[in-house]
Amino acid sequence: MDSFEINKIVAVVLIVALVFIGLANFGEILYEVEKPEIAHYQVEGTESVMTISSEAVAEEAPVIEAVSIIELLASADIDKGAKVFKKCSQCHVVEKDGANKIGPALWNIVNKDIGAKEDFKYSKAMAEFEGDWTYEQLNGYLLNPKKYVEGTKMAFAGLKKDTDRANVILYLRSFSDNPAPIE
Ligand code: HEC
Repeated sequence: MDSFEINKIVAVVLIVALVFIGLANFGEILYEVEKPEIAHYQVEGTESVMTISSEAVAEEAPVIEAVSIIELLASADIDKGAKVFKKCSQCHVVEKDGANKIGPALWNIVNKDIGAKEDFKYSKAMAEFEGDWTYEQLNGYLLNPKKYVEGTKMAFAGLKKDTDRANVILYLRSFSDNPAPIE
């Protein structure tokens, strides 16, 4: 065997090896594409629920951050908020000097002390709930009132859609002599 023949053999071996590597990669690409990707994300307010079909997907799943209410407010629609508020108006008045109904009057509610109207009889849970009605607190309460303030007497299932909550919070915010900054 002369060196020319040896070279030919080496070349053939290399080509075969390359073809194999190529096929293997191609197979991987096919596998990637065909893998079922039933990754389902539901991000609402501060809660995020993940349903993942396989561990393979879980490993690759990107970390999705819940969209903040501040971001949602930036693109919220006050007229749509007025429509959403129809669901609340059975129990709440939001206009200035509005009276309490089944629920407390909501004038100037953003950043106000939670459960603190002197002329309204709150549930014990609400009266003792710490903090102010920041955008975050409103967002959490309106998503799921019964879960957020366990023992609240507000008989309302909650607004599951992020945009509904953002729109109605933007609407509530406008009922103030000095609407709170969105930050
Ligand atoms: C069926 C009547 C009812 C409906 C509908 C309802 N609420 Fe209420 N809401 C209440 C009651 C009652 C309370 C007092 C809760 C407590 O004391 O636990 C309350 C409390 C609140 C508070 C706290 C006020 C405070 O002074 O601290 C906010 C904010 C609020 N509701 C917003 C809303 C919004 C916004 C909607 C509509 C998306 C809504 N509510 C729908 C009855 C209702």
